[in-house]
Amino acid sequence: MSKKILITAGPTYEKIDPVRFIGNYSSGKMGFALAEECAKRGFEVTLISGPVSITTENKNIKRIDVESALEMFDEVKKRIESNDAFILCAAVADYRPEAKSDKKIKRTSENLTINLVPNPDIAAFVGKNINKNQVLIGFALETNDEQENALGKLERKNLDFIVLNSLRENGAGFKCDTNKITILERNGIITHFPLKPKTEVAEDIVDKLAERLEKRI
Ligand code: PMT
Repeated sequence: MSKKILITAGPTYEKIDPVRFIGNYSSGKMGFALAEECAKRGFEVTLISGPVSITTENKNIKRIDVESALEMFDEVKKRIESNDAFILCAAVADYRPEAKSDKKIKRTSENLTINLVPNPDIAAFVGKNINKNQVLIGFALETNDEQENALGKLERKNLDFIVLNSLRENGAGFKCDTNKITILERNGIITHFPLKPKTEVAEDIVDKLAERLEKRI
């Protein structure tokens, strides 16, 4: 039976009012490249994506579109038991406005304060609720102290390995068609990869995932 892989991709949008949101620059390219690569290798893929303007090509990818972190969390939670592996590539907003206005907020001459509350950490929740036969891969997008921060996330979120990309590297991270990654594994192995198209970066990540899946039942 083919293995089932759940992938999150893209940004999340956290609504302020009917016309405004808090978001980020994720285009979905990295997560979609991973979904295409997994589907090409015969895995059954569920792709849960925030708002992006790209499309999926492989018909074997089941795509679920969401907008906010809470919606993404709900869709992931439902599928924890039924998947063999999780690649959490989405740039999930860590905070959302505590209240959203039903009407467009009008401009005044006063300062406007929006109170933000933390969103659930989807990766940490999956990390707490999987068994030893399931594989969990996370990403770390950093601007400083890259390896140290990535290692902290690897540990806190109970990941098998973490894919680090840094906004300090040209051609890496958001929006571009390329990425430059370092994979940090729980056993201490650290592998640096050169700058490559995101399609090839996806091959490197899925190679490592396939190795892990082979070792599990
Ligand atoms: O979409 P692209 O334009 O191609 O850009 C790709 C990318 C830069 C978005 C991607 O390569 C990437 O780095 N994704 C993770 C971005 C991120 O939010 O990283 P983080 O370091 O804040 O989060 C760490 C991990 O926890 C990630 O696996 C993230 O999906 C997960 N997370 C974070 C917050 C949260 N509330 N829930 C989560 O699951």
